[in-house]
Amino acid sequence: MKAIILKEAGTTANLEHTELPLPKIKENEVLIKVRAISINPVDVKARANEGVLTWLFAEERPVILGWDISGEVTETGSGVSAFKIGEEVFGMVNFVGQGKAYAEYVAVPADQLALKPATVSHQEAAAATLAALTAWQALVNHGKVSRGEKVLIHAASGGVGHYAVQIAKYLGAFVIGTSSAGNRDFVLSLGADEHIDYTSPLFEKAVTDADFVLDTIAGDTLTRSIDMLKPGGRLITIPSPDFPQTDKEKALGRNISLSAIMVQSSGTDMNLLADLLEKGILKSHVAQNFDFKDMDKAHQAVETGRTRGKIVVTLVADSN
Ligand SMILES: NC(=O)c1ccc[n+]([C@@H]2O[C@H](COP(=O)([O-])OP(=O)(O)OC[C@H]3O[C@@H](n4cnc5c(N)ncnc54)[C@H](OP(=O)(O)O)[C@@H]3O)[C@@H](O)[C@H]2O)c1
Repeated sequence: MKAIILKEAGTTANLEHTELPLPKIKENEVLIKVRAISINPVDVKARANEGVLTWLFAEERPVILGWDISGEVTETGSGVSAFKIGEEVFGMVNFVGQGKAYAEYVAVPADQLALKPATVSHQEAAAATLAALTAWQALVNHGKVSRGEKVLIHAASGGVGHYAVQIAKYLGAFVIGTSSAGNRDFVLSLGADEHIDYTSPLFEKAVTDADFVLDTIAGDTLTRSIDMLKPGGRLITIPSPDFPQTDKEKALGRNISLSAIMVQSSGTDMNLLADLLEKGILKSHVAQNFDFKDMDKAHQAVETGRTRGKIVVTLVADSN
C-alpha cells in the first residue's frame, strides 16, 4: 500500500512517500481502506518537532503520522460485531498515540469509529474527527456548557473553533467567536451571535461576563481571556497541557476554573457527532482538499495558522 513515513522531525521534505505491507488487524480492530484524511496542527507539530514526535511515538522511527480518517471497512477482527465489510466509517485513530493514518489502509479499534452518514462526503467526514471531537469533549464532556450560557470561542474560524461554534449553538449557548476581520462573516455564518476581531488592541474588554471560554491560542490570549469571564466561570485551554503559574494564580484570584484538556479517541462521541452531521446541525467547512501526493502542501497550509475550517487530503480510491 501507499504510505507516508517520517524518519525524523523536520521540514515537509521529510514526509517520505513509500510502499508498505498492509497492516495486520487485532481481534478488536477493523481494516479501513482510507478515502480521506484530515490534517491538524498536531500533525504539523509532530512532523516539525522531535519532542512532540517522541511524546506521541516514543522511540519508534520511522513513523506514520495522521489520526483522522474516513473510508471503507475491508476486514473485521474476530471480536468485532459493530461493523461489516463494505460499510463506510470515520473516526480519530488512537489519539493520544499512533494513528498511522497517512496510508491507504489503517487498522482501527472498532470502538473508535462511527458509520459515516451517507449525506456527508468522505472529506467532510474525515474533517469532523479530531477537531470536532475536541470541540465536543471541551464543551460537553469537560465544559458542561448549558443552555443560555455565554460562551467565547477563540479562533472560531479554525478547525476546532468552527465546530465549537456550531456545537455551542446546538447546546443553546450565546456564542461569541474570535478571528481576524477577514473571517468575521464566516464566523457569523456558523451561527455565532457576536464576533470579536482579535487584532483589536483591547479585545478582552469586548466581553467581561462569559460563563465559558475555549482557548485555542494560549499565551497572551489565555492570560487576557481570564478577564473575559465572570467570577465562577470556566476556561478550557487546548494548545498545551501546561499553562503558566501566573495564569493559575490570576484565575484562582478571580474564582475561575482553568484547565487544559487533551482529546481522546471515542466511538461514543463519534456517534454523537455522526448524528449531528446527518441532521445537518453540524457541518464541516473544508477549506482545501489536496491529493495524497501533495501531503507536503497540506502541511504547509495548516502550518500558516490561518486555515478557515479544515484541510483535507484525498486518497484516490482505486489507486492500489
Ligand atoms: N488539546 C487537544 O486535544 C487539541 C485538539 C485539537 C487542537 N489542539 C490545538 O488547538 C490549537 C487550534 O487548533 P485548530 O485545529 O483549531 O487550529 P487551526 O485550524 O490551524 O486554526 C486556524 C485559525 O486560527 C485563527 N487564529 C489565528 N490566530 C488567532 C488569534 N490570535 N486569535 C484568534 N484566532 C486566531 C485563524 O483565523 P484568522 O485567519 O482570521 O487569523 C484561523 O482561522 C492548535 O494549537 C492545536 O494543536 C489541541
